Amino acid sequence: MTSLPGSSTDEIGQAARLLASGGLVAFPTETVYGLGAAADDPAAVARVFKVKGRPTGHPLIVHVADADALAGLTPEVSEAAVRLAERFWPGPLTLVVARGTSVLPSVTGGQDTVAVRVPNHPVALALLEAFGRPIAAPSANRFGAVSPTTAAHVRADLGGAVDLVLDGGACAVGLESTIVDLTGGSPRVLRPGGVPVEALSDALGEPVAVGSRDGIRAPGGLASHYAPDARVFLCEPDELDSRVAELSGQGARVAVLAPADVVIPGAARARLVVAEPSAYARALYAALRDFDARGMDVVLAVPPPTAGLGRAILDRLSRAAAPRPESD
Ligand code: TXA
Ligand code: MG
Repeated sequence: MTSLPGSSTDEIGQAARLLASGGLVAFPTETVYGLGAAADDPAAVARVFKVKGRPTGHPLIVHVADADALAGLTPEVSEAAVRLAERFWPGPLTLVVARGTSVLPSVTGGQDTVAVRVPNHPVALALLEAFGRPIAAPSANRFGAVSPTTAAHVRADLGGAVDLVLDGGACAVGLESTIVDLTGGSPRVLRPGGVPVEALSDALGEPVAVGSRDGIRAPGGLASHYAPDARVFLCEPDELDSRVAELSGQGARVAVLAPADVVIPGAARARLVVAEPSAYARALYAALRDFDARGMDVVLAVPPPTAGLGRAILDRLSRAAAPRPESD
């Protein structure tokens, strides 16, 4: 019997049967937990959008067991796709390629491209293997909320709306995959994530641009996204003392999230210090949820340096700090 963290082979079999009968299964990946449905089942895919409260124009990532499966989803696998898949799959990289005829338009939000990834988690890979078909899965959170990095986060967000939650422990990366669009003239990162942009440039032997091509397709594109209930502000280390004093003076319960070399003022009511960018990424979403659970009003976040994973961390913090709609 293979050993799977937190999930038995029996459970994997049950999960695969649920998917085959139109069910929704939340499963761990190395980035964040996904809310899975059979990618070729229109009713199951529709349920994913409904359960998440996600607008239907917002496409899902198709998860597959290995790079060979890419050929079944796109008319022609480019040299760049082969190179990136060889180097980074299984792993936190999503490739956007031309949509093949086998892919449901509802999965791609009507776009003529499809996002594909091979996740690097033993439970996700065992599930994909057992199911034998592609699994469409967004992050397993309510639309606009912080992504889940534990099974408990998924249950708290989506609870009874999911048929089964596979528990694979805390996610090792903790931030979503890097999304790279290969459908234009040159590759372009649409969402920074678990694979640093520098690593993509290195693998392709050319600089890789970051940002949406046309301003229309901006994944996670709404300004306020990945947001906890507490207000989030980005903060420089040298402003921390005065910001904490000012906000605490106004009666706010202030939490601070910062790299380990930053000294946190005593007036902060909750704090999390993290040494490496990888530890920052791994802890970020759980910390935001924890600060909410502890009733914090404000989170002051000092970002890590922007190299490597730091870019994705800054992206998520900026979105969490973005102005929110009145009704939210
Ligand atoms: O790490 C991850 O990517 C996680 C795990 C579960 O794999 N999934 C994830 O899915 O973050 P989701 O749905 O929360 O975010 C997927 C993003 C969306 O912002 C969507 O706009 C973008 O991928 N996306 C999907 N298909 C696309 C396409 N064809 N072109 C451009 N962006 C696309
Ligand atoms: Mg998401």
